[in-house]
Amino acid sequence: TPRGSLARALAADGIDVREYFSPSKINLFLRITARRPDGFHELASLFHVVDLGDGMKFAKSSSETKDTLICSDASIPTDESNLVIKALNLFRKKTGIEQYFWVELDKRVPHGAGLGGGSGNAATTLFAANELCGNPASEAELLEWSGEIGSDISVFFSNGAAYCTGRGEIVDNVEPPLDLGTKMLLVKPPMGCSTPAVFKALDLDSRSTADPLELLKRIGSDGCSEAVCINDLEAPAFKVLPELAELKAELTEATKDKGTVVFMSGSGSTIVIIGDDDVPAFVAADETLFKAPTRLITRKSGEWYAPTLERK
Ligand code: C5P
Repeated sequence: TPRGSLARALAADGIDVREYFSPSKINLFLRITARRPDGFHELASLFHVVDLGDGMKFAKSSSETKDTLICSDASIPTDESNLVIKALNLFRKKTGIEQYFWVELDKRVPHGAGLGGGSGNAATTLFAANELCGNPASEAELLEWSGEIGSDISVFFSNGAAYCTGRGEIVDNVEPPLDLGTKMLLVKPPMGCSTPAVFKALDLDSRSTADPLELLKRIGSDGCSEAVCINDLEAPAFKVLPELAELKAELTEATKDKGTVVFMSGSGSTIVIIGDDDVPAFVAADETLFKAPTRLITRKSGEWYAPTLERK
């Protein structure tokens, strides 16, 4: 079946098909503040939603037993392990509404990237299911429930810029620290990082000692810099994937005359370059590297909004 045909067929049958943009995120800084007895870690991180995102289409299904998920990327499982299905199960459990759904996912955000692509899909799914069912739940409820299926879904309920604490699920909207037009480039090697593996490799003794609230203040007043865009998961990610350290060093070297700041997002393996979206020659020449120029986005009246989205 050609891509998009399910949604077209449903629409031709007069079935209400809704389209959503499912964005991803970066972490402008990420401090790990403690290891918890339950195996999770307490973090304090400035998240920002960006305009690299997946396309998602939703419709109510006539099935009384299962959801149908179709994904453009055949390497992504479409069973219960997919956060989209987890989100639909969660929605039914919490609302008691026995409604199943058709979902088409056009994947553009790489996985194992530290970009929260799957988490964005989960948040978008909760919004969409709720909307298709006539909004039985409030946004605050959807946000609260989302913590049960993942730690970094909350940011997608924010206005775009969010200071997140706890496991990552406690979200505070903050003033966007950077201009929305700030140029950025995301570069990711073919290998992804497994989040649990990176957390496992974390040595608490070699973390930064910077106060996260101080970092938040400094980024608001002075913007990004190497001293502020700290990620405590970089060192363990570099242990798990040594070529990532090399990539970061090469990107830093290749862009250093442009006043850029280069750091890893989340648990990797995406390296973010802030301040420039030109693709360095060695990156352009390497077909295996994922590269995406990106901008920060905000949410207004429930819609993701970027003055730069039209260019895509
Ligand atoms: O919540 P999520 O499914 O994204 O987390 C994946 C894994 O990452 C967890 O099982 C845990 O090993 C690790 N993690 C952590 N501390 C966090 C978030 C995730 O240790 N705050």
